[in-house]
Amino acid sequence: MGATTAQRVAEKELAQQVILIDILEGIPMGKALDQWQSAPVEGFDSRVIGANDYKQAAGAEMFIVTAGVARKPGMSRDDLVNTNVDIVKSVSQEIKKCSPNAMIIVVSNPLDVMCYVAKEVTGFPRERVVGMAGILDTARFRAFLADEIDGSVEDIQAMVLGGHGDSMVPLVSYTTVSGIPITHFVKGDRLDAIVDRTRGGGGEIVKYLKTGSAYYAPSAGAVQMAEAIVKNKKRILPCSAFLEGEYGMKGIYLGVPCKLGENGMEGIIELELSADEAAALKKSGDAVRSTQDIVKL
Ligand code: 2OP
Repeated sequence: MGATTAQRVAEKELAQQVILIDILEGIPMGKALDQWQSAPVEGFDSRVIGANDYKQAAGAEMFIVTAGVARKPGMSRDDLVNTNVDIVKSVSQEIKKCSPNAMIIVVSNPLDVMCYVAKEVTGFPRERVVGMAGILDTARFRAFLADEIDGSVEDIQAMVLGGHGDSMVPLVSYTTVSGIPITHFVKGDRLDAIVDRTRGGGGEIVKYLKTGSAYYAPSAGAVQMAEAIVKNKKRILPCSAFLEGEYGMKGIYLGVPCKLGENGMEGIIELELSADEAAALKKSGDAVRSTQDIVKL
C-alpha cells in the first residue's frame, strides 16, 4: 500500500521528493527506481527515492505511515494491535527525530489506535496526526451504492464515521445522490445490506487476497488527504481525529468529519445525529477505547 501511495503522490506531483522507507533491504530502492522510471511516460517530475534509513527523510513535511502487518482471512483489525503497536511506535520515534515539524497521516491498523500511538509517541498536536479510514469506508459505501442504482460514484455523497472496524457508522441520513436522499433510490433491506457490506468491505478483500489487504482504495484515500493539506484545499472529509470533547468523547481517535488544510486537521465538524446514529457512534468510540486500553507505550 505504501508503494501505491508513493506512485499516486508522484503522479499528482504533490511533492518534489517522494521517499519510500522500509526496513527491508533493497525493496524500497527497487520500487522507487521502478516508479521513477515511469515518470517520463506518465509525465511527472517528483523524484521517487527508496531508503532504509529515516535520515534520508530529514526535514520531510509529511509522512504517510502504512507500516505494519496486514490481516489474514478471519482476523479483525484489532487482532493486529500487539504487533503493529511496536512497529508504529518505532516509526513514530524516527519521525520525531528526523522531522519534528512533520504532518503524519496514519493508515496502519487498527487505525484509530495506531493514530493514538503516533500522537503519544511523537507528542505532536492533534492537528498534525490524523488517520485515513473514513474516506476509504465512505468510498466503499459510495461504490456499492453506485452499483446498486446504476449511477455515477461522483454523484453519491456520503459520510461513514466511527472507528475503522466492524462498528463503523455509515450515516444514511447524510447520504444523497446529487442532493436527493438515498432513500429515494434504495430502501429497507437493500440499503441495510449495503451498509453491512461496507462495514465488512476490508474483510471482503482480505478474504479474496488471502495474504494481504487492500492497496488501491486505501492509497487513494490517503493521497486525497495529503492533497487537501498540501494544496490547502480546506476540504471536509471523514478522517480519524483525536477527540477533545467533540461528540461527547475525549482521549481517543475516531472517524469524524474534519476540515483539512495547510495546518493539517484544522477542525472537527459536529453534525446533528439521530438518536440511533449518536448511540452507534458512542458504541464505536467505546470499541476503539477498549482496544486502546490494551496498548502500553
Ligand atoms: C481496509 O479496510 C486495510 O483497513 C484497510 O482495507
